Amino acid sequence: MSASESKPLTIRTAQEDDLPALFALCREALVLDTFSPQLLAEKLFRNPRPNEFCWDVYLAEDASRVVGLMQSVVRPAAGKAWLGLFAVAAASRRRGIGTELLRQAQKAWSGEITEVEVLAIPGNYFAPGLDPRYTEALCFVERAGWKRFKDCVNLTADLSARFDTSAEQRRLRAAGIDVRRARPDDAGLLDVFFSEHFGPDWRFEAELALRNDPPALHLALRDERLIAFSAHSAQNREWGFFGPMGTAPEARGSGFGRVLLWLCLNDLRDAGHRTAVIPWVGPIAFYQQWAGCRVERVFWRYRLERTASSTG
Ligand SMILES: CC(C)(COP(=O)(O)OP(=O)(O)OC[C@H]1O[C@@H](n2cnc3c(N)ncnc32)[C@H](O)[C@@H]1OP(=O)(O)O)[C@@H](O)C(=O)NCCC(=O)NCCS
Repeated sequence: MSASESKPLTIRTAQEDDLPALFALCREALVLDTFSPQLLAEKLFRNPRPNEFCWDVYLAEDASRVVGLMQSVVRPAAGKAWLGLFAVAAASRRRGIGTELLRQAQKAWSGEITEVEVLAIPGNYFAPGLDPRYTEALCFVERAGWKRFKDCVNLTADLSARFDTSAEQRRLRAAGIDVRRARPDDAGLLDVFFSEHFGPDWRFEAELALRNDPPALHLALRDERLIAFSAHSAQNREWGFFGPMGTAPEARGSGFGRVLLWLCLNDLRDAGHRTAVIPWVGPIAFYQQWAGCRVERVFWRYRLERTASSTG
């Protein structure tokens, strides 16, 4: 055993001023992703709903060198938690550091937490699941008891050409549908729509999109009632991040979705993005047909079911 291996490992809660060391670690470990320190700070330290979620990042130090991190997110009212970003420096792997960090994270998952998902944190996620090409991580979570339950994909949209929405918008206008960018005073409309469809998590993402200048949210209205929406840039802005979008069930099949999609993609193009990410999909055929999107990444979703005997 080397001298550094014999020193005790310290695990502590990370603070925002640890960001340079955490960024260096993540840059080295998360080789399939490209991100800035600002994006990492958003993921690790910007709990968008502090009244509902508890966020913690644990950091492992070996001889004052940061060698690991693991994020835990808990939503007590839902009985659910998330294993967020986690990484151990390549030279320090297979020495139990990931396991020690996990032990620390587990302390935040009290008896009332019955399910822990990997990544996929609502409203502020780095990834909607584990990219299986992070194979060491896949082995790590499976060894710790997580079970794969679903797959999902991120699509990519080519933004080299602008989408022409004019004919479709004319057609919809003639049918009495108003398609327009959202305004800050649309909050009441959004509240009604999301209480009937899609729920509070998407209401929250729409709110984040609305806070952009100009609002990164487009709406379709019939008789001044919201029937469909699309959003972008609610998070992960440097990736050209689309979504969410949704049409009320009774209004589907009338062509609102494609126009709303195009309006968001045109915004992202105007903001200088050459491609957009359509994350956590969903209806692949819709995006392929209307925006030529391609599957860029596949994610495996993992959850750990916790029973009274497995907690503590
Ligand atoms: C996943 C990761 C954090 C594991 O950290 P670690 O400190 O090496 O983990 P541990 O030493 O505690 O390993 C615990 C167990 O996980 C399993 N495991 C970990 N790495 C493994 C590997 N490369 N192959 C097979 N099993 C592995 C083993 O069962 C291991 O126990 P063992 O060594 O007694 O056999 C590390 O490999 C890593 O940083 N990977 C890159 C980052 C990443 O992919 N993050 C996920 C995306 S957020």
